[in-house]
Amino acid sequence: MKTIVTTAYRPNQKTDELAARVSEELAIPFVLRRKRSIERIHSDEQADVLVAAKERLEFYPVGKTEPFFFHPNSAAFRTKRPLDQDPLIEVSGLSEGDCLIDCTLGMASDAIVASQRVGGNGRVIGCEAHPTLAYVVSNGLRAYESMPHLTEAMKRIRVVASDAVEFLKTCDDRSADVVYMDPMFTEEISESSNFLPLRGTAEAGQLTEEWMAQAVRVSRKAVVLKAHFRSADFERYGFARRVRPNTKFHYGVISCR
Ligand SMILES: C[S@@+](CC[C@H](N)C(=O)[O-])C[C@H]1O[C@@H](n2cnc3c(N)ncnc32)[C@H](O)[C@@H]1O
Repeated sequence: MKTIVTTAYRPNQKTDELAARVSEELAIPFVLRRKRSIERIHSDEQADVLVAAKERLEFYPVGKTEPFFFHPNSAAFRTKRPLDQDPLIEVSGLSEGDCLIDCTLGMASDAIVASQRVGGNGRVIGCEAHPTLAYVVSNGLRAYESMPHLTEAMKRIRVVASDAVEFLKTCDDRSADVVYMDPMFTEEISESSNFLPLRGTAEAGQLTEEWMAQAVRVSRKAVVLKAHFRSADFERYGFARRVRPNTKFHYGVISCR
């Protein structure tokens, strides 16, 4: 599906400039808003719509009237609790100074928690296969200022707009401490409501033998999977399941030490 960029309903110099920059950086057409609704633009342009709004970029895939925009989401409260107790940190064994590759960046909530954990001496690289989503999140991570305790952690995340398997193939053996995967759930669950505007838009592919082989090759400490508790991928790919009572998703770990 093609993507176009337009401005807010009432454009000003700032939104015009932002739209022009996005059009250039993503090499997508800039289309005048002309006070049209999002549905009208979807229908006129037959394209997903990026809106340069006053404070942020908003993404409206065709058929959606609720925008996707960057927000730290669960990272906001997860980083206010002791990080040792965060399930991702606990199962991955991620430490200060480590390198984590997040193969499925999405809204970057997990990547932000990981980045806070590894600190300035560590690295978090986030792969996102959907180019517009990668762009919105990458810009959001750099521009978001309402949570000062996360600003540095967000800015340090390197976003790679790529399929994870293709990116992993470019990495040396044992070059990251943790490789993390959180593919789209195949089941509908209410807990993933942050992601609702992206259902049907985000990359929905599931783990493959090739993805797993690359993840194990690149990782020094652990490969971690987050998936729905009914997912057969834990057993299919040899993950030790960490059951989390009363939650719809579980983590699985393959130790590479
Ligand atoms: C469930 S979301 C991840 C949510 C993320 N853990 C967070 O904290 O916001 C899955 C994301 O991974 C992306 N994705 C799925 N398969 C991918 C792949 N093979 N390579 C890169 N990104 C992928 C999807 O487009 C989607 O944005």
